[in-house]
Amino acid sequence: MITEKEILHALSYVQEPDLHKDLVSLNMIKDIEINDLSVEFTVVLTTPACPLKEKIETDCVAAIHQYVNDKAIVKVNMISNVSSNRQDKFVLPGVRNIVAVISGKGGVGKSTVASNLAIALSQTGARIGLLDADIYGPSQALMFGLNGQQPYLEDVGGKSMMIPLENYGVKVMSVAFLLKPDQAVAWRGPLVSSALKQFISDVSWGDLDYLIVDMPPGTGDVHLTLLQTTPLTGVVVVTTPQEVALADAQKAVAMLSMIPVKIPVLGVVENMSWFTPIELPDNKYLIFGEGGGQKLADYCSSPLLTQVPLYMDIMNGGDTGIPAALRANTPYGKIYGQMAQAVAQQVAILNGVVAQSS
Ligand SMILES: Nc1ncnc2c1ncn2[C@@H]1O[C@H](COP(=O)(O)OP(=O)(O)OP(=O)(O)O)[C@@H](O)[C@H]1O
Ligand SMILES: [Mg+2]
Repeated sequence: MITEKEILHALSYVQEPDLHKDLVSLNMIKDIEINDLSVEFTVVLTTPACPLKEKIETDCVAAIHQYVNDKAIVKVNMISNVSSNRQDKFVLPGVRNIVAVISGKGGVGKSTVASNLAIALSQTGARIGLLDADIYGPSQALMFGLNGQQPYLEDVGGKSMMIPLENYGVKVMSVAFLLKPDQAVAWRGPLVSSALKQFISDVSWGDLDYLIVDMPPGTGDVHLTLLQTTPLTGVVVVTTPQEVALADAQKAVAMLSMIPVKIPVLGVVENMSWFTPIELPDNKYLIFGEGGGQKLADYCSSPLLTQVPLYMDIMNGGDTGIPAALRANTPYGKIYGQMAQAVAQQVAILNGVVAQSS
């Protein structure tokens, strides 16, 4: 008769590949059921976007065959409970991880990366919000097909809060929802700081696994306010491959060290990496040069998460309010899926490191 103790002993030889500790010490095994040679249990992952699910499952089965009984019939169920290392929940309570998408230079594709990241993460089953923090040039209302709509107010704990709009499984909040179509934002100087703080704290997001923040371009006061007001888990830096973009992106990273709290760089997304015409699928044209993403990743000592080529469908997706990541089986859909996994993986590693050191 197989015992629970034997199963746990076998699983203590299975490592979580990112956290470099075994599944039993990490408290990831639940609900073990044994019936003669049938063994069933649940592995609780730190993110539904875990890119190593299959490896973990294969390793579990192999360990039970090796250490318990090679004839055991093993069924591994996978669920997730997204990890978090937030201590102060005064701002944005209920949000487990907050990831800002930043860049130095404008127009490199932050908003496109942010919207597609949010959708690709939501497709894994994670609960996702997207905050468009680009108060001067908000784009997420358009990218999510929510132009012209308005959030409604609800009483939450005696306070009037804005309820985000929702599309494609993502809760979206943008200053664009509060403006009339032809109205520009005229907030200036100190007003911007207080307006932004209010904007961030007056939204009722509910429970979210990841809140993605689409940042404005550049490295000014607005950025410092945003970085200080929002308790960020980390940032994703977007760059294009050429040298000028790289220099600006380095400025954006340097800005992170100007505030007292340490904000980790989760990784770099190189956007517009190359162009491949449909009729010449083996050709890669390096329109904006090459190597910028890797250089920036080396500069930040963080990984190059992904390279996103130029695709007309990505641009059209943004313009028509139907983001490209929704078409998960296309080549670009797959790239966005892999980008989401890479971001979730870095968040999980970071949370694991913080948990182990505290
Ligand atoms: N990989 C891509 N392939 C094709 N078009 C892209 C790609 N990434 C972004 N674009 C297009 O490039 C333009 C700029 O992108 P986007 O608005 O996301 O940049 P941004 O960095 O947010 O700009 P800003 O600094 O103004 O906020 C948009 O028209 C977008 O559709
Ligand atoms: Mg933008």
